[in-house]
Amino acid sequence: MKKLFLTLAILALALAAFTACNSGNDNGDGDNNYDNGGAAAEPRRTLVMGTSAGFPPFEFIADYGQGVIGQYAGIDISLVYRIAQELDVDIVIQDQEFAGLITALQSRQIDFIAAGMTIRPDRAEFVNFSVPYYTAGQRVIVQAGNTDINSIADLEGLIVGVQMGTTADMAITDGHNDGVVTFQDIARFNQPAHGILDLLSGSLDAFVVDAPVARNFLAAYPDELRIFYDPNEFFGPEQFGMAFHLEDLDLLAEFNAVLTRLIAEGYVEYLYAHYAALLGGEE
Ligand code: ARG
Repeated sequence: MKKLFLTLAILALALAAFTACNSGNDNGDGDNNYDNGGAAAEPRRTLVMGTSAGFPPFEFIADYGQGVIGQYAGIDISLVYRIAQELDVDIVIQDQEFAGLITALQSRQIDFIAAGMTIRPDRAEFVNFSVPYYTAGQRVIVQAGNTDINSIADLEGLIVGVQMGTTADMAITDGHNDGVVTFQDIARFNQPAHGILDLLSGSLDAFVVDAPVARNFLAAYPDELRIFYDPNEFFGPEQFGMAFHLEDLDLLAEFNAVLTRLIAEGYVEYLYAHYAALLGGEE
């Protein structure tokens, strides 16, 4: 934990240094610091980012509150931090239940969502998605000592956990309703970590979550947990996008322009490797 704190502190310093250099571009040569003829400066825009922390490595609360934006760190947080620098906007984070994010965006309690959210046509009826920035997919986590469960079919009659409102929830619920696999119960959690605790204590037989998050929990409990992928059941690849209000086409275009460039520059890959080194859970 100490190491994590130190690394995060260093990360925060590095980011601060980066900000300092960057703002140097605007008025680096102090002589040139005249005003623009009396016109009032535009107030800096503040955007409220909706997320659901507790989804490492994408968004989590950093140890000792030393995050990248406030107390928050993660791939989404660092990515948005960088985009915000380039767009010259301030970011305020609203951390809430994942299942309520789209409603919060529709009612403009938040300006956009960055929450490891999978791009889906049924969601795209209510929000506009950015260009995809990460490819994931679902993984099944079981107790390490449990050698009986190696596929979703093996979960017949058992209790499976998911985070409420996620693609894992949708896939498991649909599979159950369509009679592909009949579970004894589907336990829906607001926080993936609570599902993991129930799995460790034995009140769940399996927990389904996005691959990078599953690998993260495995890194935290290497002796207690095991993860597998079931290509034969209802999980395909998923791509993460940020989400915007249907009317905010300009904001969407602004984000897309920066995001596209950062992806091409390998910045998202860099962040992934950075957080894997920080938290464990590399592939
Ligand atoms: N990718 C999944 C989905 O879109 C899960 C995302 C959960 N994100 C979070 N920050 N808890 O449904």
